[in-house]
Amino acid sequence: MINFVSLYIQNLHISAGDKPIVHGLSLEIKPGEVHAIMGPNGSGKSTLANALMGHPKYTVTKGKILIDKKDITKESADKRARAGLFLSMQYPPEIPGVSIANFLRLSAGAMRGTNQNPITFHKELSEQMKELGVDPSFASRHINLGFSGGERKRLEILQLLILNPTYAILDETDSGLDVDALKVVAEGISRFHSPKHGILLITHYNRILEYVVPDFVHIMSGGEIVKSGGKDLAKEIEKSGYSVIARNAATAK
Ligand SMILES: Nc1ncnc2c1ncn2[C@@H]1O[C@H](COP(=O)(O)OP(=O)(O)OP(=O)(O)O)[C@@H](O)[C@H]1O
Ligand SMILES: [Mg+2]
Repeated sequence: MINFVSLYIQNLHISAGDKPIVHGLSLEIKPGEVHAIMGPNGSGKSTLANALMGHPKYTVTKGKILIDKKDITKESADKRARAGLFLSMQYPPEIPGVSIANFLRLSAGAMRGTNQNPITFHKELSEQMKELGVDPSFASRHINLGFSGGERKRLEILQLLILNPTYAILDETDSGLDVDALKVVAEGISRFHSPKHGILLITHYNRILEYVVPDFVHIMSGGEIVKSGGKDLAKEIEKSGYSVIARNAATAK
C-alpha cells in the first residue's frame, strides 16, 4: 500500500532534448525520512533533481511525481515550490542586482502566500544567520555574485531554513566545503530535519551522512536506481567504490 503523504516518484523517465537520461525510477520519501542518492558522475542524479523541480530543460516522458497526493508532474516550478518542494542546486546561478535579503523575503512571501513585512522578516533572517554563523553583511550581497563555494552552500542552507519546505532536495550541498563549513551545513540540515520534513540528499561522500544519518541509501547508475540499502551502503561505497555494485549486479544475473 502506497503512503501518499510523501514525495512519490513513480516510474519516472526523463529526457534532456532527445536524450533519454533517467529510465523508470521509483522512490517514495515520507516526511521524517532522509534518503541519500549516490552514484558515479553522469548517472542522472542532477537530472532527477532538476526534473523533480520542473526545470524546463528536462522532460518527463513517462511516469508521475506526486506531492502529498497532488500530481505535480506537469506543474510549473513555482507551483511545485508552493506545494512544498525545494531544490538546492549543484551549480546555483549568480543574480546581479538582487540582494539576498530581498530575494529571501520575496521567496518566503511566495511560499507562505503573504507579503513579508521587511522589519519582521529582517529579524527572522538575522536570527537564522546568527545560528548559521554567517556574517550580517551577507544579507546585503547580491545572490551568489563572487561567492566562494562555501558561501554558496551556506546561502542554500539559509534558504532552506527560511523557506521551510516539506521536501528538500539537496544536490551536492556538501561538495567543495572545508571541514568547518561542512559542519555548519550539516548542522543546518540537521536543524531542518524533523518528523514533518523529508530530505533527499545527493552526495558523493559518506562524510555528510555521518552528521545527517540517512534512513535509506540508493545508488544510481545509468539513469536507474541499481541498489538500495541502509547507511552502511554509503560506507561500503566510500571504501570499495562503485565496482561493488557492478559485481553484485553480475552475480545477481
Ligand atoms: N541539458 C542536458 N542536455 C544534454 N545532456 C544532458 C543535459 N543534462 C544532463 N545531461 C547528460 O545526462 C547525463 C547525466 O547528467 P547529470 O548531471 O544528471 O549527472 P549526475 O549524476 O548529476 O553527475 P555528477 O555526479 O557529475 O553531478 C550526463 O551524460 C549529462 O551529460
Ligand atoms: Mg550532478
